[in-house]
Amino acid sequence: MSKTIKKIGVMTSGGDSPGMNAAIRSVVRTCAYHNIECAGIYRGYEGMIEGDFIEMNARSVKDIINKGGTILKSARSKEFRTEEGRKKAYEQLTKNKIDALVVIGGDGTFTGALVFNKEYGFPVMGIPGTIDNDIFGTSHTLGFDTALNTVVEAIDKIRDTASSHNRLFFIEVMGRDVGHIALNVGVGAGAEEILIPEEDLGLDRLLESLRKSRRSGKTSSIVIVAEGDKIGKNVFELKDYVESNMSEYEVRVSVLGHMQRGGSPSCFDRVLASRMGVKAVESLLEGKSNYMVGLLDDKMALTPLEKAVKGISKINMELLRVSDIMTT
Ligand code: F6P
Repeated sequence: MSKTIKKIGVMTSGGDSPGMNAAIRSVVRTCAYHNIECAGIYRGYEGMIEGDFIEMNARSVKDIINKGGTILKSARSKEFRTEEGRKKAYEQLTKNKIDALVVIGGDGTFTGALVFNKEYGFPVMGIPGTIDNDIFGTSHTLGFDTALNTVVEAIDKIRDTASSHNRLFFIEVMGRDVGHIALNVGVGAGAEEILIPEEDLGLDRLLESLRKSRRSGKTSSIVIVAEGDKIGKNVFELKDYVESNMSEYEVRVSVLGHMQRGGSPSCFDRVLASRMGVKAVESLLEGKSNYMVGLLDDKMALTPLEKAVKGISKINMELLRVSDIMTT
């Protein structure tokens, strides 16, 4: 193992996700295990620029494996996008004797780390933390599994009231650029239709599908809409459109919003976070840099950060077909 790294900085950045605390815990404890120092950096790149650091040891991360959010807080930094901002960040890291970074976040976080590494040669390792699961190089990002369970639970509750009133519900779920959440919860919660950014279903097909389900005897229905879907209308416009074309349906909208990002992480996310933290720290100590730790075929795998940022995380087409068959 390389002798050069004596202290690692860890931070969370971008949208938070359940499992980030478990990942911080793992990074801190792996550092302790290898007898190197660890500093927590508050509020992502914002805190790095301001030198908002805290020395952490194995005990600093007790009782956080089960907590949602991130004890280090998170932010999206505009200043880090400037050369001046990154220079300040570099000076703060050097002043605090931090030799390498583990950044936990999504593609914005990784893009920042890449630029920083290019300018200053600073060793960086990424851990994918976002509920959207929109990162190439890992089958699961931290928080995705928890978010799926949170959303399915919410949809189950909406189904109760939808069926009592014979209503059609449009439920908007998160997923700015990809439909992973929508597709999985759609199948898991038995939705009638799933509208995702990857596929333009078209309004006519949506109406046709709803009419078909009505004819088949269904009295209530759930349609899942990813926030970034391609159909061209937002979820409220969709409601108006369907109501004006299908008077037989009373339609309601539910936007689940940020509750999807909170809550205690699932066991899957805790285990994944623990594995990723170990792999990130040990890879840095082996002299590796500019990689993201991911889960591929149930093994820890390193993907170059550049590929993780540029690659596309594709949806599972088989799930689309399963969903079609299930709504027969
Ligand atoms: O973390 C990803 C994400 O949850 C997206 O699905 C969503 O579009 C976005 O974050 C919301 O971001 P903010 O918290 O800044 O409103």
